[in-house]
Amino acid sequence: MTAVWIIDACDFIAAFLFIYGLKRMSSPVTARSGIVVAGYGVLVATLASFLYIFGVTGDAALHLNVNIALAVIALVVGLGWAWWSGKRVPLTSMPQMVALYNGFGGGAAGAIAAVELLGGTSVGGIHLSVTMVGALIGSVSFSGSLIAWAKLDGRVNKPWRVKGQHIYNALVLLATIAVGVWLVTLVVGGAASIAPIVGLFFGLALIYGIMLTMPIGGADMPVIISMYNALTGLAVGLDGFALQNPALMIAGMVVGSAGSLLTILMARAMNRSISNVMFSNFGDVSLESTSEIKGRMKPVEASDAAISMRYASKVIIVPGYGLAAAQAQQKLYEFVKQLQSGGVDVKFAIHPVAGRMPGHMDVLLAEAGVPYDMIAELDEINEDFATTDVALVIGANDVVNPAARTDKASPIYGMPILNVDRAHQVYVIKRGQGKGYAGVENELFFADNTNMIYGDARGVLVKMIQAVKELGGEADNAA
Ligand code: TAP
Repeated sequence: MTAVWIIDACDFIAAFLFIYGLKRMSSPVTARSGIVVAGYGVLVATLASFLYIFGVTGDAALHLNVNIALAVIALVVGLGWAWWSGKRVPLTSMPQMVALYNGFGGGAAGAIAAVELLGGTSVGGIHLSVTMVGALIGSVSFSGSLIAWAKLDGRVNKPWRVKGQHIYNALVLLATIAVGVWLVTLVVGGAASIAPIVGLFFGLALIYGIMLTMPIGGADMPVIISMYNALTGLAVGLDGFALQNPALMIAGMVVGSAGSLLTILMARAMNRSISNVMFSNFGDVSLESTSEIKGRMKPVEASDAAISMRYASKVIIVPGYGLAAAQAQQKLYEFVKQLQSGGVDVKFAIHPVAGRMPGHMDVLLAEAGVPYDMIAELDEINEDFATTDVALVIGANDVVNPAARTDKASPIYGMPILNVDRAHQVYVIKRGQGKGYAGVENELFFADNTNMIYGDARGVLVKMIQAVKELGGEADNAA
């Protein structure tokens, strides 16, 4: 009797850990442990693959003839680099890291498919076709994710577009598919030297990924990364089918379906369709509106703003990327607790694409210990701004830009925004005249009911806390 059941059991445990981990990731309270659980799943699946190498199954057909030393070196290098870079990465650079890891996932899926093709282990047209589809998707996801990484990291700043781009892209895709079909017929026909054609196929697929991503504007990168994440999952799942590996199949499908849902939700949050994201010129700063903004930015002292909030009855706080950049979440919650102890009703309003990654603001606020019942999503709270005394915007810009409602020439036109401008008084904390991620001016900052508090979010909050503290002291003295 063979010991295949050991590998089957490992695959089952790994699959269970992936799904259970993902379930835990659905709430900020359990998300951290969900990631650890899924990590154990990866560990089990990795160890199980060594069982094939060591021939534990006792089945010669399942014995993988792999250079163990090279496999271990690859594991150590990968683990070491991921551990080192994961420890060092600041939260604000997390999207770049996700893009990079996602690209590696796609690349690994493509590489597995290449080994399958060159090693001649794929038999039968269907099996081969599935391998080819996995190879195509994995390679596109690899090169596309690397371009997305370069854009998010500020290494590629401008969308790259040429006239007739969509036609060139379609031609490269068709050529890749044609070479793929040719490859399948060659392998099925038992052709010997297919390596150059395999190279041509992967070369075209990689070029297609670059051509597909280069024209897309920076503001659309969150949706694109999430879409590549889904594609990588799909490629891994297809590879799992080609290798007859259930753990890979399940992991791939879990990532593929979770990534697809996230892509749809993010596109919806920006009021866009996926095809519109892929094939329109959204995020193109050259399309920026030329309409003139009236009014002027009116600065106010942090202490004055803090005291007026202390005497308000209802305050809504809108955090954005600047809060993360300043790492001011602890100070913010300290200030909020001061307001609450003075009887002020305080809520946080979170925009789905605030910050630089899905759930960025939820993670920050959870880190500071803000209770979840104080945090509201856009749909839940948007009506409340009109009856709010003060809206405090901290390092947010695009997600509160009213141009999204009215200015058809604006690159963020159509994205639902938080209705901060409808509050009686708006305070905005930011360092200076810097624009938001989409690179457009924000008329909210010039509105009659808005005052600007210039400075790093953390420094401003320290001053605000001090002002409310002194106010408390004065009140005590007066009493
Ligand atoms: P942004 O529009 O990026 O605006 C952030 C503002 O914070 C800037 O105007 C900047 O102005 C200010 N700021 C920066 N550092 C600061 C600091 N230390 N202290 C105080 N203020 C600081 O942010 P948002 O409103 O959160 O919008 C997010 C944008 O990113 C959207 O366009 C979204 O599409 C995009 N995006 C989102 C994601 C996801 S999934 N969330 C991923 C990638 C891109 P100053 O320079 O004047 O300080």
